[in-house]
Amino acid sequence: MSFNIKIGIIGGSGLSNPEILTDAKEVSVTTVFGPPSDTLLEGKIEGVPCVLLPRHGRNHSIFPSAVNFRANLLALKQLGCTHVLVSTACGSLREEIEPGDFVIIDQFIDRTTKRASTFYDGSREEFKGILHVPMDTPFCTRTRDILKDASLSFNYKTHSKGTIVTIEGPRFSSKAESYMFRSWGGDVINMTTVPEVILARELSLCYAAIAMATDYDCWKEGDVVNVERVFAIMNFKRRTLIFIDRSNSEKAVNVLKKAVVEISKQDWKETLEKMKVIHYNLQRETLE
Ligand code: ADE
Repeated sequence: MSFNIKIGIIGGSGLSNPEILTDAKEVSVTTVFGPPSDTLLEGKIEGVPCVLLPRHGRNHSIFPSAVNFRANLLALKQLGCTHVLVSTACGSLREEIEPGDFVIIDQFIDRTTKRASTFYDGSREEFKGILHVPMDTPFCTRTRDILKDASLSFNYKTHSKGTIVTIEGPRFSSKAESYMFRSWGGDVINMTTVPEVILARELSLCYAAIAMATDYDCWKEGDVVNVERVFAIMNFKRRTLIFIDRSNSEKAVNVLKKAVVEISKQDWKETLEKMKVIHYNLQRETLE
């Protein structure tokens, strides 16, 4: 490892398994924006330092609009993370993206309405000024490539790019909305990528996401999303489920673990430094 890296992993629905870490210890972190979704778990994957955080809390008790995204990202930053890998369940807006497929998303369309999506809202001493952060390339290209290669190395059906529409939720979309998102060029749909990816960028973290399609939303005739379907695909246990497909969340864990090892083999000094420069210039501009 040529540069000190540490990888934060934010697990989505069905993916908050602490067993993926060795030497794991729980760490309570507080931030100026309040507490994260849960205690964090610090440990190692094949010797690489990692920090695990379940996005919705370990009991999946926090609904999307109530996730404290700022505290989650800041807690990872405070623990020294340089990278953030996340998993997210999503609906598919394209015939060819089938339930169980992975998408290494590269763009987003923001349809959220109730979320704090910047650290620089003037409320905290630590984040002074106004930050107009560029968002043309929201996800870290190098980290995305690593996720894609990791997924393909297991022969998982993987779409190397895709635009995700993030809705506020907690309700799913109407048919009219689903048709509209398709016509806008959306490929998949979820409730959490925004503002997570934006906040990661504000903190100069290399952020990439592996989205797993769990359903066809509701645009496809005869196929309507509901929560049982999403959780059945993601292997999230609920009392009502008879059939639980374990393989899909195991697949996501395999990809994340492999990606961690690959990230640790590469030199990130320049990439991380470039991200910092963009950040610094913008702050200076607003302060001058
Ligand atoms: N998460 C999983 N499936 C979804 C859908 N169809 N819409 C929004 N979020 C989702």
